Amino acid sequence: MSKKRVLTGINTTGTLHIGNYVGAIRPAIQDSRNPDVESFFFLADLHALIKCQDPARIERSRMQIAATWLAAGLDPDKVTFYRQSDIPEIPMLCWMFDCVMGKGLLNRAHAYKAAVDAATAAGRDPDADVSMGLFSYPVLMAADILMFNADEVPVGHDQLQHLEMARDAAARFNNLYAPADKPFFVMPQATGGSAVEVLPGLDGRKMSKSYNNVIPLFEGGRKALDAAIARIVTDSKLPGEPKDPDSTSLTVIYSAFATPDEVAAFRTSLKGGLGWGEAKKQLADKIDAEIGPMRSRYDDLMAHPDVLEDILQAGAKKARAISVPFIEELKRAVGLKTFCAPKAAAKKKAEKKAMPVFKQYREKDGNFYFKLAAADGTELFVSEAFASGRDAGAWVGRMKKDGIAVFDAAPVKLMKGIDRATVEAALAAFQEDVE
Ligand code: TRP
Repeated sequence: MSKKRVLTGINTTGTLHIGNYVGAIRPAIQDSRNPDVESFFFLADLHALIKCQDPARIERSRMQIAATWLAAGLDPDKVTFYRQSDIPEIPMLCWMFDCVMGKGLLNRAHAYKAAVDAATAAGRDPDADVSMGLFSYPVLMAADILMFNADEVPVGHDQLQHLEMARDAAARFNNLYAPADKPFFVMPQATGGSAVEVLPGLDGRKMSKSYNNVIPLFEGGRKALDAAIARIVTDSKLPGEPKDPDSTSLTVIYSAFATPDEVAAFRTSLKGGLGWGEAKKQLADKIDAEIGPMRSRYDDLMAHPDVLEDILQAGAKKARAISVPFIEELKRAVGLKTFCAPKAAAKKKAEKKAMPVFKQYREKDGNFYFKLAAADGTELFVSEAFASGRDAGAWVGRMKKDGIAVFDAAPVKLMKGIDRATVEAALAAFQEDVE
């Protein structure tokens, strides 16, 4: 049985906090280590253009997010980790879906409706804040998922409708273009993954940047971690006074980084009068024990963008080994195939492969020579002797580049029965090959 494909799309806007780490990053990386799963992780940087038109921010954010996932332990050799914008087949597939999906369906997308509602409430044109990108966000997301035929997509509640729409795109395309017994796309399922944990923030509400109640993940270092933890809301009980462990989000955050035994001990200490200040220090140490080593990997990656680039290029190569042949198949299905019949195309390719060959060699006399053989092996000419192999090579290079004009000036002898026109034709093959 083939492995289950799980695909995770990562937004590349903003920096991350420990709520993202506990709720999404850590469990997704854990799941990716399952040997029965083939994991795809990608940075949804084309989607990012919808929300953000500040190039510097886009650039910085995708770098930070790539570095974060790698620092947190994502293994690019085991998973396929790439940038959406490095896979041109995705927007191509998006267009194919654009042409089969109903506008009526997309009118019902939550993000689009929210933008329309807000503009309407403000007395403005309903579509005032709606770009085509925002409107077709779900179509691009369907292309992300279906390009790699993901079986499962771990997403939060807010994304369930998008998965629904991806299934709609798959079904419509299959119905229109695929033989009934050989659909192009599998129906992707939304799963929670293990990502069910929602971490409370400093004030007890869900940790979220919009509430300004977050503990940053890596940015700002240990100092920023301590500073955020110092702001966790507690009551004003003094050290020595018994405390209710559930009166603050501190205990829940602690649990996300500690073993059950450690959590039990922590609760007991609070009930026994542990001071809030000391409890916060214990929490900071606990978090830092886990993410401290990751933070130095993160800093290192951020200081070496070329390393990140290499990793993502290698990921794009792996991804495109799938997407390039698949998009060709889909193009054929919709009527965008090559004009040549497959046989003629193969013949053309074979003809192209049969090329004349320059050979460079050294004779017993210690001198260097070169000669040209036609595609069928017939020898056309031989050079005079050169004391240096480099000089012989230079003639070959120039002749390949400029053809017969260079041949006329070159120190070579035609073989018996070969004429200039034959050589001209053979040399011309090199120029065609460049084009
Ligand atoms: N829309 C997703 C989010 O907001 C990000 C995303 C883009 C995505 N393309 C995807 C997620 C494909 C899963 C699959 O979180």
